[in-house]
Amino acid sequence: MAESIRAANIEAKNADGRAVNPLLPCMCRVIRITEETPDVKTFRIQTPDGAKPFDPMPGQLAMLSVMGVGEAMFSVTAKDDDWIESSIKKVGQLTEALHSLSEGDLIGVRGPYGNHFPVEDIKGKDLLFVGGGIGLAPVRSLIRYALEHREDYGSLDVLYGSRSYGDLVFKSDIFENWPSRCNVHITIDNAEDGWDGHVGFVPTYLEEKAFSPENKAVVLCGPPIMIKFCLASLMKMGFSKENVITTLEMRMKCGVGKCGRCNIGSKYVCLDGPVFTMSELDDLPDEK
Ligand code: FES
Repeated sequence: MAESIRAANIEAKNADGRAVNPLLPCMCRVIRITEETPDVKTFRIQTPDGAKPFDPMPGQLAMLSVMGVGEAMFSVTAKDDDWIESSIKKVGQLTEALHSLSEGDLIGVRGPYGNHFPVEDIKGKDLLFVGGGIGLAPVRSLIRYALEHREDYGSLDVLYGSRSYGDLVFKSDIFENWPSRCNVHITIDNAEDGWDGHVGFVPTYLEEKAFSPENKAVVLCGPPIMIKFCLASLMKMGFSKENVITTLEMRMKCGVGKCGRCNIGSKYVCLDGPVFTMSELDDLPDEK
């Protein structure tokens, strides 16, 4: 699996299948804004002539820019025939500018960047998606892909948690769209009024569910501390690091191997990733 993740096809194509230059921004319109949580919004983006800016594979990123403010990489959380979506947490100047946009406003869009989840290698496997907080954003693109190509995969389980009900993203997916099509397991960290679902941390819930490692690939994304404890839980449950996949998308800056801000040892996350198996990450130098 590791080899084909590195070799993933990152050729950029537009909605017509023609090759495009991922360094060339196009001004696109924000056609829908969904407020996911008090600090996360999902932006649906389309070219002025009604197409998607490019055709990303699950796990790839877009460079979004607000004129006069700046630009940054964000994972593409969903796509359709004529739009892409990115879900963005408000954490600084650029993301504040994005959050202040209205439907109809224009932003700059470039991409796609990075490799993608190994959709071919995991064909025929049961898939377990594990996410925490905004970490469900990059994973959502692969969940949607697996649901669209349902016959190619075995059982699908989504285990997702956040601090509170209010912090859960993609509520229409996790509570309405997905439960009839795959197994969805939701947890929040602490009990609260009105919540009658599971309460507890994601790694603990993962162990409680006792998923079998047999023929299963795991896609894991969330805060570093959650990743650390989830990985420990998965190892206890008998999973191998070769079958646990994650994304280091937060390290992507320029996306093209020029700025030197994403490297881990001799590897560049933007050129070799951002999608890696945990066994590949084991081979990289410890940064602590
Ligand atoms: S993101 Fe700039 S070198 Fe990798």
